[in-house]
Amino acid sequence: MGQRMLSELLQRNKEWSQRRQADEPGYFARLATRQRPEFFWIGCSDSRVPANVVAGLDPGEVFVHRNVANVVHSADMNLLSSLEFAVETLAVSEIIVCGHYGCGGVRAVTEDLPHGLSDHWLEPIRRLARSYALDLATLVDHESRLNRLAELNVVEGVRRVAETPIVQKAWTRGISLSVHGLIYGLKDGLLRDLGCTVSTPTLLTEAPR
Ligand code: CO
Repeated sequence: MGQRMLSELLQRNKEWSQRRQADEPGYFARLATRQRPEFFWIGCSDSRVPANVVAGLDPGEVFVHRNVANVVHSADMNLLSSLEFAVETLAVSEIIVCGHYGCGGVRAVTEDLPHGLSDHWLEPIRRLARSYALDLATLVDHESRLNRLAELNVVEGVRRVAETPIVQKAWTRGISLSVHGLIYGLKDGLLRDLGCTVSTPTLLTEAPR
């Protein structure tokens, strides 16, 4: 069973590669020489939110880091290494933190049952839920509260990325770099701008709203 599924995957890859090459002769040879993406995407691992597909971008156009519930841990070496490479080597100009409505990771922090390691991973979201408990309580139903929490997680992620020495140093050098917060709707396939873009090293002490 496992081998059959792998064979199918490899067959699909072969067809895709041939189609791509036919549409644009020399495509892979060109792309193999270098990548020049303008975007660095930090998103959720959820299979329904692939960065390239939902943003309509081709291979080579977006450098991607994904983890469960797009959490920005300030000491996550995986994320920080990707961020440093994106900013200093690839010289991306736009960093996008993208969450999504209906996120299982966000829902998990509101459930009163153990999830194993992910309970540690999701701790920053649980902290946000506590900090914004009063605001969240004003929303009428559970789904709205989860959606709001997913948005807050993005806003917090944008701030954390902007506060990293990597991004601060880029700004000090006068490099043009923006950190944006987006949220994706599984139900309509649309990305929404949360209006929390940070492009300068200011206003970071204010709490997200
Ligand atoms: Co998710």
